[in-house]
Formats: sequence, structure tokens, C-alpha cells
Amino acid sequence: MQPSRNFYIAPSILSADFARLGAEVDAVVAAGADLIHFDVMDNHYVPNLSFGPMVCSALRRYGIKVPIDVHLMVEPVDDLIGRFADAGADYITFHPEASRHIDRSIDLIKSLGCRPGLALNPGTPLSLIEPVLAKLDMLLLMSVNPGFGGQAFIPYVLEKVRQARSWIDEHNLRIRLEVDGGIKLDNIRAVADAGADTFVMGSAIFGTADYSEILRNIRLALAET
Ligand code: DX5
Ligand code: ZN
Repeated sequence: MQPSRNFYIAPSILSADFARLGAEVDAVVAAGADLIHFDVMDNHYVPNLSFGPMVCSALRRYGIKVPIDVHLMVEPVDDLIGRFADAGADYITFHPEASRHIDRSIDLIKSLGCRPGLALNPGTPLSLIEPVLAKLDMLLLMSVNPGFGGQAFIPYVLEKVRQARSWIDEHNLRIRLEVDGGIKLDNIRAVADAGADTFVMGSAIFGTADYSEILRNIRLALAET
């Protein structure tokens, strides 16, 4: 039996209807979302282009109050860190391969009053971030190769989740362990059992007709862990 954890569900708006973005975010928040996952793609670090800080500030102006969890799939990262902090981001997570100075970029995020996170691609070992683990508020493990929603979950990532969980518990760190990519109702329990506490879900939520129903079913699946 896993120790009880405070599970967060973070719908990824990459799969939302962009023509009605404010209303879509309102709807998933009303259905119980804890965070809004904001995928930033630059068609350089990843082979796709999504949205920037102006969309983040537009959501804030529209009245979105829940924490915004910005996932930067961009290279370089430092300039956009400043702009997303200004735009109302809470968590700012970047890929270590995209920053020449990981420690400096983490300090920059903290200095702007945001919560730093690092995102590791499926093939990237945890050891890469071990020296700075204690400085993070969020560790994001990609369970798909970044760049698109709707991809299949890569199973070997579960072992990285287990390893990360044991590191976090061993050092008694207050870090959220987030998994991103291909999470569905039928595999979320295995991800939680491996040790995750924050679940990014794009197509599994925005691809459904009733957000309250899917969020209820996700909570039920997590309650069984
Ligand atoms: C992919 C993104 C993910 C993606 C998740 O690069 O980082 O956040 O939007 O979408 P699903 O849940 O559909 O895999
Ligand atoms: Zn993401």
C-alpha cells in the first residue's frame, strides 16, 4: 500500500480547443483540475510550435486563478523564463539539455518568485539532474518524446519514476513528481503506484465530452492506489 499522497491533476491545454481556450480552462477547473499544464514548443527544441507568454497573460486577464504549470520545450530558455514569470506562471519547468547553465536558470526562476522544475526526456538519465535535485519544486519525467499530444505512454519510464520517488523520499525533499505524456484512465494507477503525485493529461481529458465525468473517474482510479 503506497503512502497517501496529495495527487494533482494537470490538464494539458495543448489538446484544448484553442478557439475557446478561456472557456475550456474554466471548464476543467470547475471539474476539479489542480494545475493548468501549459506546453510551450518553439519548433527548434521540439518539432512543433504551440503558444507563448501572451497566451498565459491572456488567461490571467480572463480570470484564471489556478496555478499555471509552464513546460518549456524551447532552446534557449532564460529569456522566456523572465517573460513567463511576468505573464503569471507559477511553476516554470525546462529541459536541462536546453540550458547551458542549469543551476543559473533554476536560480533565475526562483529570483522571479516562480517555482523551478526540470523535465527529463524518456532517454535522459536521472543522474543528469542529481546535483540540483534539492533546488527543485517539480521534477517532470516525460513518458513520451516531447512535441505532441496523443502519443502512447513509454513503459520503461515507470522505472525512472520509481527511482525518482526513492530519491525524493530518501532525501526528504518537498518536490512534486510529475509524469507527462500518454497518461490515460487505464494506466494512471500504475504511474501513481510507481510514485508519481502529479499527472499531466491532455487528450485523455480534452478529448472527452464531459470533463466532470473524466475527472471524477480519474480521482476514483487514484483513490484505489
Ligand atoms: C508533449 C507535452 C505533453 C502533452 C500531453 O510534449 O509535453 O504535455 O501535451 O498530452 P497527452 O496527455 O495527450 O499525451
Ligand atoms: Zn508537457
